[in-house]
This record gives sequence, structure tokens and C-alpha cells, in this order.
Amino acid sequence: MTIVLGIESTAHTFGVGIASSDGIIFANVNDTYRPASGGIHPREASEHHSKFASELLRKALNVSGFSFSDIDGIAIALGPGLGPCLRVGATLARFLALLHKKPLIPVNHAIAHIEIARLNTGFEDPLVIYVAGGNTIITTFKDKKYRIFGETLDIPLGNCLDVFAREIGLRYPGVPKVEQIAQRGKMYIEMPYTVKGQDLSYSGLLTYALKLVKEEKYKLEDVCYSLVETAYSMLVEVSERALSFLNKKEVLITGGLARSKILSEKLSLMVADHDSVFKPVSPEYAGDNGAMIAYTGALALDAGVSIPVDESYVRPLWRMDEVDIPWRRE
Ligand code: FE2
Repeated sequence: MTIVLGIESTAHTFGVGIASSDGIIFANVNDTYRPASGGIHPREASEHHSKFASELLRKALNVSGFSFSDIDGIAIALGPGLGPCLRVGATLARFLALLHKKPLIPVNHAIAHIEIARLNTGFEDPLVIYVAGGNTIITTFKDKKYRIFGETLDIPLGNCLDVFAREIGLRYPGVPKVEQIAQRGKMYIEMPYTVKGQDLSYSGLLTYALKLVKEEKYKLEDVCYSLVETAYSMLVEVSERALSFLNKKEVLITGGLARSKILSEKLSLMVADHDSVFKPVSPEYAGDNGAMIAYTGALALDAGVSIPVDESYVRPLWRMDEVDIPWRRE
């Protein structure tokens, strides 16, 4: 059994997890930076991470009951993410790897969202819908890599709803609050529905919804309802096309939007039409967390993946489809 300590710091969450390659999560300790106003400021988020890093590391070791002599490697999410935030986690991971003479394992954050969701749902070979504040991607494993079968061309779906919520004065977390208001809506207002082939665009939709709120011509609940319906339907459309093309028997949603009951219900109805099974990842593993980095790091280390410390640069734009997945077979 390979046991790995993993560090997550790609965006607003700093997390430390400890997990084994056979899927036991020994610790998952996280803290999320919440700006007083506006979106994530990378420097402020990185200051949060520096402040909480040692406390979270200590907590994770305490919860697991392990010391560094029990740990086989240190995994770090090197990207994609915000440079200043990535560097805090990377610095700590390199230091721990050198100090305790452990291999350093590079983990792609998006792939970690997939692997923790496969573990959590028990799905072997799913079509994966990865939707969060920072990503909107439809993917599945094929020929050694996670291949992309649709993604956003501009802002992610989660970001579209988060920014909308913030602009109309709703505090964090924005998505459930917009959904709550949307549930009172009765009238659908036509909105920009932008699907290009298998790709999505959400920025025009956001601008249009905000314009409608400003004009005060429609009730807020109808604008929210129309925004949510349009945004989710676009995603369901490309997911359905990917599913019928790839013929997968399992479909999962991972990332922060896996917590949305409305989105999961829509996906689940579509998936049932194709005689496949749908599951969302559990809420505790939906958002960014240290456990997913630890678990993916353990799978990777078992398959022989590690990186010399002096080559462990952060990769803010690291695409998931560049990464070889030696722990999975066709
Ligand atoms: Fe994430």
C-alpha cells in the first residue's frame, strides 16, 4: 500500500490530504479563502495559504495518526491555477520532499477531481463532467490520456453564476442562492444559448443576464430561472452528444457544481434516456480538497511517476489532456 500526502493550493482553497493508492482517505483538511468583496485576488489568496499551511499540515498528520516515516511521497497540484497560490503549495511540497527524502509527485488538479470522483462513485470508466468555478470540461479516458470532448471557450459555468450572484449583491456561495431565487421563477426569457460544436460559451449569457437585471423589465426570479435553465441546458446538450458518441455506461459530475441538485437532476434524466447510470461526487469531495491530490499522487507514484525538485515548476495553464495516465489501462 502506497501512502501519499497531497497538497492543494491552486485557487482559493489550501488543503492537505493523506491517502493510499487503494483508496483509503486518512485525512482531508482544507481551508478556503473568502474575499470580503469581489472575486479571488491571487495575492490575497496566496497570503491566506501561507498563513494556514503549517496549521493544516499539522492537522492532517494528527487526524491520520501518521508521521513522515509512514508516508511514501509528497504530491503537489502544480496546475492549472493561479500562479501566486500554486507557488505556496509547491514551495511547501518541495521543502517536505527534500527534508524527509521522499519522492515529489506532480498532480494535475483537473485529473485529481476526476480520480477522487471515480473512487467516490465506484465508477470504473465514466464519462466525466467536470464543472466548477474554474473549469467546464467533458472528458473521458482514451489512449493513455483524459481526452476532452467539449469545454468552455471563455468563462466556466461556475464562474458565470458566481459573478452574476456577486453583481446582484448575493454573498458567497453564489450558485445555491441564484438557484434558490430561480426556483420561484415562472417565465422563461430567451437568453444567448451558445454551443459551438462541442464547446460552450458563457460570457455573453452572463452579460445579457446582468443587463436584464439592470433594466428591471423582468422579475429577478424570472431572470435567475432563465439564466440557470439556459446555462445548464447548454451543458446537458454537449454532455448528451458526448455520451451517445462514446457510449459510456457510467456518467459522473465532479467539481463544485456537483453540489447543484438542479444540475444533477437534469443530467440524471438525460443519462437515464441512454440507459446509463449517473452519480454526482459526494459534496465533501466536490470542491477543491487535499485528499484528491493525495489519492491521485498515490496512484501516480504506484505507476512510477515523480519529478525532480529542481524541475517542479508550477504550471498555471497545465491542460489535463497533456498528462499521461499510466495507472489506467484501456
Ligand atoms: Fe478545482
